[in-house]
Amino acid sequence: MKIIFNKHKLIKIIEKEKNLGFVPTMGSLHKGHSFLIKKSNSQCKKTIVSIFVNKPQFNKFADFKKYPRTLSKDVKTLKKLKVDFLYLPSFKEIYPYGTNRKIKMHKFSKVLCGKFRPGHFKAVIDVVDRFIRIINPKKIFLGEKDFQQLKLIKKVIKKNILPIKLISCPSIRLNNGMSMSSRYNNFSLKEKKILDKIAIKINSCVKELRKNINLSFLEKLNQELRNYDVNKIDYLEIREEENLQLTEKKTKARLFIAFYLGEIRIIDNFILY
Ligand code: PAF
Repeated sequence: MKIIFNKHKLIKIIEKEKNLGFVPTMGSLHKGHSFLIKKSNSQCKKTIVSIFVNKPQFNKFADFKKYPRTLSKDVKTLKKLKVDFLYLPSFKEIYPYGTNRKIKMHKFSKVLCGKFRPGHFKAVIDVVDRFIRIINPKKIFLGEKDFQQLKLIKKVIKKNILPIKLISCPSIRLNNGMSMSSRYNNFSLKEKKILDKIAIKINSCVKELRKNINLSFLEKLNQELRNYDVNKIDYLEIREEENLQLTEKKTKARLFIAFYLGEIRIIDNFILY
């Protein structure tokens, strides 16, 4: 695996690669990332992974500081997965002239996380667009855990007519049913146990909703989560996959949830119909 820090070096090394799969990450890799990488390995001739904790997409500096960083472990994982290139840029490499403030956002950015994390998606779109232009991959692999992010990136690719295919990959889940997340590295043992209990409540709500769409199940879950040190629930909503509109119909829809356990924000989504 070639580890590259410099944009110009990287462009030279990969310029002849016509079938390159790209997995963008912020590191602290888990099985969800491994799934994306395996998918890329199986569909593309070569795979490039980026690790870059993108400061502008964090709403609070403290959250950026606390984001788990496990670089040497990540490098071992990537070597095992036979990744061809690892791009490890600095902030200056990616933002030589600062961030792009002129990005126009699709209306999907106004709901769910977009409502609670101002500027977050703009910063995600900015960084992903920069990576795509540097790397020029054939395919980009993203996980459905960040479903809204995935939808917004898809829209940007379409709008800018970028010659790249987005491959959307299912969430890889822990035994308790929650999607894997790098942020879980920051949980204490006590918090992990609480999360297991919360997961039981979420799973049973999902089961009920699959049988019968009734918003009182959401109200019940909302109350139950507050008994488990959850002091803030940003959203708990059923939305259609296609257009992210709220729905009470059995159309293709998911349950979307974002809440805080202690200081850590958890997001997830569950296919209902
Ligand atoms: O999903 C993530 O890890 C990040 O938002 C991404 C896509 C790597 C951009 O920083």
